[in-house]
Amino acid sequence: MKSTIRNLITASLVCGIPSLITPAAWAADAAAGKAVYSAKCKSCHGADGTPSAGMAKAMGIKPMGDPAIQGKSDADLKVSITKGLRKMPAQSVSGADLDNVVAAIRTMK
Ligand code: HEC
Repeated sequence: MKSTIRNLITASLVCGIPSLITPAAWAADAAAGKAVYSAKCKSCHGADGTPSAGMAKAMGIKPMGDPAIQGKSDADLKVSITKGLRKMPAQSVSGADLDNVVAAIRTMK
């Protein structure tokens, strides 16, 4: 019984520590970002990153896959998202949500 517990502890240390120290532990989560996107961004940008024709025209929104957007750095996209850009109002997204929503945008190409 004791050794079972010790084995469990050893196993969790062996499996747990590498995942804490590898960069993957901090990698943004595109799936979580998609949920943020669906809640806060979809109304203007469309469910999959392609705005409706009306929105695209009225607001000047490009598809998320556009090289003009994908060509920007994550840092620049975060500025656009949090400060707003022309007709896009500043969005209150921060911390992990912001990292994750940018990761979701990177999947929309
Ligand atoms: C009220 C409508 C609206 C909402 C809501 C909205 N956007 Fe936008 N977004 C725009 C418009 C309009 C533009 C085009 C700005 C321009 O290039 O003139 C834009 C552009 C962008 C761009 C391109 C920025 C760039 O630097 O080229 C990104 C990225 C973006 N939005 C992300 C988001 C995210 C993420 C959310 C949700 C958290 C969001 N938007 C919510 C209207 C909106």
